[in-house]
Amino acid sequence: VKVHLSKKALNSDLQIFRTDRKTIGLVPTMGALHTGHLELVKKAKESTDIVVVSIYVNPTQFNNPADFEKYPKTLDKDLEILDKIDVDIVFTPENQEIYPSNPELRLNFGLLEEVLEGAFRPGHFNGVGIVVSKLLNIVKPDVAFFGQKDLQQVAVIKRLVEDLSFGVRIEVVPTVREEDGLAFSSRNMRLNPDERMAALVLSKALFFAKSELLRGADWLTVKKQAVQLFQSEALCRMEYFELVDPSTFKTVENFNPRDLSSICTAAYIGEVRLIDNLPIID
Ligand code: PAF
Repeated sequence: VKVHLSKKALNSDLQIFRTDRKTIGLVPTMGALHTGHLELVKKAKESTDIVVVSIYVNPTQFNNPADFEKYPKTLDKDLEILDKIDVDIVFTPENQEIYPSNPELRLNFGLLEEVLEGAFRPGHFNGVGIVVSKLLNIVKPDVAFFGQKDLQQVAVIKRLVEDLSFGVRIEVVPTVREEDGLAFSSRNMRLNPDERMAALVLSKALFFAKSELLRGADWLTVKKQAVQLFQSEALCRMEYFELVDPSTFKTVENFNPRDLSSICTAAYIGEVRLIDNLPIID
C-alpha cells in the first residue's frame, strides 16, 4: 500500500490513474479499523479500479473534547491491515494539511441537524460536512463508500453531494455485526468486559422493536417496551430510540409497512457513547 501524508503527493499519484481512465473509490475513515470498515473496502474493491482509504480523526466533528482525546488511534495496525488486503492508497493527512486555517464556513442541514445525532451532538454534522467536502475535493473519487451504521451521516452526506453537485456516487454499505448482534464500531474498543455485555442492549432493543412492529404492534407501545429494556441495564443511559424516515429523519408516529423506515438509537454504555440503527423496511 502507498501511504501519502500530503495532498500534493496523493494527487500526483492519482493523476496517473485518472489519465489511464481508472475509476477511483474513496473509503473515508477515522482509523481504528474494524470489520465494518473492511466491508466498505471490499465493496470499493469490487466496484472501482483504485481504492483510496483516508484515515483522519477529524477534530471539527467532535462536540465533546474528551471523546476526541479518547478516540482510539491505531495507525500502525491500520496500515498493516490495509496492506494485507491490497488497498492501493492510504491518505493520512496531518491537521495542517486538512485545516491550514480554521474554516469559517457553516453548513446548515435543516431538520437533519436538529434531531437525534444533530440534537445530541451540536456542530457534529457541520464538521462532518466540511471534512467530507474536503476529502471529495482532494481525492475526486468516482464513488465514495459509507456505512449504514451512521445512517444520519449518510443522509447528511447525500444532501451535501446533491446540494453542492459533487460529481460522486455515494454507496451505502449495510451494517456489519458481531455474532451476538453488537454493531462493529471503533468505540467498542473502549468498552470493558461488563460494558461490552451491556452494550448488547442497543441491538437487542432494535431487533425486538423491529419484530414487534412487523407483527403489527403500534410504535408507541413498542418504544415504551424498548425504553424499559434500556432502563433495566444499569451501565446504560439511553439518549434516544426513534422510528424515522431514513432520508429526511422525520419521526414516524404510525408505522406503515409500505414506507421506508428505520429505528435509530444512541446510548452511553459507561462513558462510551454508541449508536445503532435498523431498517424495518428497506
Ligand atoms: O464515519 C466516519 O468515520 C467519519 O464521520 C468520516 C466520514 C470519516 C468523516 O470524518
